[in-house]
Amino acid sequence: TAPRIALVGATGLVGNTLIQLIEERGFRYRDVHLVASARSVGRELTVDGRPYPVQNLEGFDFSQVDLAFFSAGASVSAKYAPHAVAQGALVIDNTSHFRMDPDSPLVVPQVNAHELDRRPVSGVIANPNCSTIPLVRLLQPVEARWGIRQAVVSTYQAASGRGHSGVAELREATAASLADPADPGPAEEFTPSLSFNVVPFIDRLLESGFTFEEQKMLQESRKILGLPHLDVTTTCVRVPVVNSHSEAAWIECHNPVDRAELVALLAALPEVTVHDQDTPGAFPTPRTVADRPDHVHVGRVRVAEHNPRGFWLWLVADNIRIGAALNAIQIAEALLERGTL
Ligand code: A2P
Repeated sequence: TAPRIALVGATGLVGNTLIQLIEERGFRYRDVHLVASARSVGRELTVDGRPYPVQNLEGFDFSQVDLAFFSAGASVSAKYAPHAVAQGALVIDNTSHFRMDPDSPLVVPQVNAHELDRRPVSGVIANPNCSTIPLVRLLQPVEARWGIRQAVVSTYQAASGRGHSGVAELREATAASLADPADPGPAEEFTPSLSFNVVPFIDRLLESGFTFEEQKMLQESRKILGLPHLDVTTTCVRVPVVNSHSEAAWIECHNPVDRAELVALLAALPEVTVHDQDTPGAFPTPRTVADRPDHVHVGRVRVAEHNPRGFWLWLVADNIRIGAALNAIQIAEALLERGTL
């Protein structure tokens, strides 16, 4: 039977997109609860044409639900997800809090859905980082075919990774700079301001000199792919784009790579579009992938002439859908298919 669900962070960008995907995909539920902070109590949101009041997370009774999606930030998940589990709910968590917990599987359904065969020990299934998800979906078949020696990745991450307030700040800051080029506008979500700028710093700085965002891409890729020694190294950059992350990846393999075979291999993956065959050199951009927002888009596939074991690719993926809400819904769909719920 269809599950009773709760969306924690329902008023946020990922929460809003979860609602949209539930509607678009005809995700079946018996009952839905929309949950956010006390600030949102009194608001109403519609799901499948029906209005629902937003409920306060503080005091919410999770024994009313079978499945709870959390997308209200890591500290909220840290505090409330264990409580939801104790009350009997299975949690799909969008934050970084449980990702490296050995008792919580870290799942990209197209890559490691087998992790969903059993109910997790912690009661929490973690959804990976928004830049990690599209990358591992492409790395897995490359590893299987040619073996990966090292992947070097730079990301170009959109403002929507910071939620509604990140998008609002980019718009406001850009408007301020358009009116007066010397005015960078507000710079709280992004520091320095993201208007007409690129900022090589996402999340917090670690002692290693890498940012937490950069560390997540390494550690999470290893866990999802089950390759504890995988060599992935990244620079994560925020760019003044509203939505969809891009990545430039140099992937060096143990064996020489045939370009045509590589393109065919990637194009055959589920929900991946390779921009190549009709117009060589064709490439996706955040602005041009919106017609297929549920695909990982790949372009600029280049095997290096001086080193045929290595190749570059460019990828673009909607960070709110593929990188968060869609992955979470696909986890739920896979759970239902398996009867794990
Ligand atoms: P609220 O709208 O009530 O502040 P975004 O990712 O767009 O920034 O959204 C964050 C989401 O997380 C919102 O739904 C927000 O609710 C929710 N949220 C943030 N802090 C809390 C909290 N302490 N308790 C419950 N929900 C929270």
